Formats: sequence, C-alpha cells, structure tokens
Amino acid sequence: MKALVLAGGRGTRLRPLTHTSAKQLVPVANKPVLYYGLEAIRQAGITSVGIVIGDTGHEIRDAVGDGSRFGLDVTYIPQEAPLGLAHCVLIAREFLADEPFVMYLGDNFLVDGITDLVDAFRLADHDAQILLTRVAEPQFYGVAEIGPGGEILGLEEKPEHPRSDLAIVGVYIFSPAIHGAVRAITPSARGELEITDAVTWLVANGFRVHSHLVSGYWKDTGRLQDMLECNRIVLERVEPANRGTVDDLSEITGRVVVEPGAVVENSILRGPIVIGADTKILSSYVGPFTSIGSGCLVCGAEIEYSIVLDGSSVQGVSRVAHSLIGRNVEVSRAAGVSNTHELMVGDHSRIQVRA
Ligand code: G1P
Repeated sequence: MKALVLAGGRGTRLRPLTHTSAKQLVPVANKPVLYYGLEAIRQAGITSVGIVIGDTGHEIRDAVGDGSRFGLDVTYIPQEAPLGLAHCVLIAREFLADEPFVMYLGDNFLVDGITDLVDAFRLADHDAQILLTRVAEPQFYGVAEIGPGGEILGLEEKPEHPRSDLAIVGVYIFSPAIHGAVRAITPSARGELEITDAVTWLVANGFRVHSHLVSGYWKDTGRLQDMLECNRIVLERVEPANRGTVDDLSEITGRVVVEPGAVVENSILRGPIVIGADTKILSSYVGPFTSIGSGCLVCGAEIEYSIVLDGSSVQGVSRVAHSLIGRNVEVSRAAGVSNTHELMVGDHSRIQVRA
C-alpha cells in the first residue's frame, strides 16, 4: 500500500498566512499540521509516499525533505494548477502503479490516526473506502447520503442544500479501480476534477465503495476557528515539560511545555500551553490553549486561546484571544494619542478590535 498526500491548493481561507506559506505547514501545538498526517501514515505501516505540491512546493520540500526523518520514502509530484483532488490521482498514476493507496489531504487532522482504517481496508475486498463524520455545516464539505445498511446512495460536493449532515473526511483508501474513475469524469462547475465525482462514478459502475463513520476527532484545518480548535485538542494531550528557564515569580498550572532556551519571568501560565524554543515570556499572562512558536517575545501582555508563529512579539496589550498571528509579526500598544489603533497589516488580514 502507498500513500498520496495532497499538499497543494491555495489555502484562501487562511489568508494572509497562506500568501507566504503553505496551509499544510501552519502549526498545531508548534508542529506543522502536515507532520501529523505523515506520522499517521508511517504508523499505519506505509512508507512509500507521493506528495502532490503546487505553488508552495518549495516550502513543502524544505520542510519534509526526502521523508527519512519520518521513516518515509517521499516522491514529489508537482501539479501545475489546483485542478482538483481527482486530478491529483490522475497525475500520480505512474507513482501509484497498481497498488492500493491512502489519499490523505495534507490539511486534515485525525486525532486517532489511520492505522485501524488501513488495517480494515487490507482485510476487506473493497474498491474504495471513504470516511464520514457528522458536522454542523455540511455545505462546506463533500456530503454523503447513505442508506439503512450504510450503502452510499449519493455524494455531492459542497451542496447548497445538503441531503445529510455526513461530511466526507479527507482520508480515502482506493484500489487501482479509481484510475478508471478519474479518467471518466469531467470538471465540476468550479472547474475541478472532484474526487467526490470519481467515487460517485465507482458506485454507479458497480464497484464496492465502503463508508465508515469516524468516531474520533477530525478537522479540516482550512479555517481559523478549526485551526484553533485543533490546537486545543492537541494541547489537551501534551505531556508537561520544562526544558527552559522559569523563575520563582512565575506561576505555572496545568499542562505546560517550555522548550529549550525559552525564558519565563514574572508571568502566569495556565495550561495547556506550549512555549517554543528561545521564546521570552516576561511579566505576562498566557492562558489556556495557546501555542507560542520559537523566538517570540510576549512582554507585559495577556494572551489566550491563540496561535503565534515563530519570531513574533506581543507587547503591552491586554487580552489577545482567538487569534492566529503569523511569522515575524509585531503586536504592540500604540504610543502617543490614546484611543487609536495603528495598523500595518497584510492583504486579506482580519483584525477585530474592541470598540
Ligand atoms: C475537500 C473535498 C471534500 C471534503 C474535504 C475534507 O474539500 O473536496 O469533499 O469534505 O476536502 O477536508 P476542500 O477542503 O479541498 O475544499
């Protein structure tokens, strides 16, 4: 069995971060979301992995390399434009050869991994296995309608009027039968070759498509609130560890990880939290579900339920919350005139300030 990891796409919903960086590399508990997927693939006993890359390909290559760090043998498959998930299968034909494979969307996060799913597929005689989960807003996903015996009655990509609340999770397992399907379908209204249409084709042509309801936690990390929630779930499970320096004036409660070189002085840290390497937390409050990257500075500030990427600083501001702060960003108090907000923010940024 091989794996095909999709790490292209434009990540429009996470702009402006994704103007400069791949959405699959946005960190969850200070580790790129893509790494969790690669680790899950290795854990399932798969070592041969094709990674489909797009405009941000160089970054993915820099981050993952030849895959040996993950125990994987990685082949990169460049996609000239984001032409759909089924298009990825089409261009990976040679890499995939005639083996079954797991297709894993690089921005998806499954807390329980994929080992059980891969094992079940190995034992069964299916042509495709899709995962479903109940969601509150199915219109943002591929949606399945299933019959009383779990059989698939229909699949639709991001329907305006969803026929069920069962969203398609971005981890699929296919036999080589999928290659015929991706060649048979035509682009959708949004101009993409949809994997949902390819699976529909399999069902319509009598292939055995099995659906499985995911019980564990799953998130497509494409949106800010999903990123923050995913971060929360992972932080809830971190093992507390102090590898940095925390002074006696500081108070730490709950699960808190302080990485090497990090310094915490005169601050209150309420876990779960991770503080990256060489970051300074000075006279500040860091509240639950916060990940602070490496080389950051939090000084005279309060922050909680947020993700801060490497090299950024938050100084002299009270209660930053529900925020995703990119790399090398400065957040500070406006000097001089009171009641003003002084901003210099990138394209497609979102700022919510107290009125
Ligand atoms: C893709 C699939 C969709 C699936 C989703 C899961 O959508 O097309 O069927 O539900 O992934 O993450 P995308 O997020 O690429 O728009």
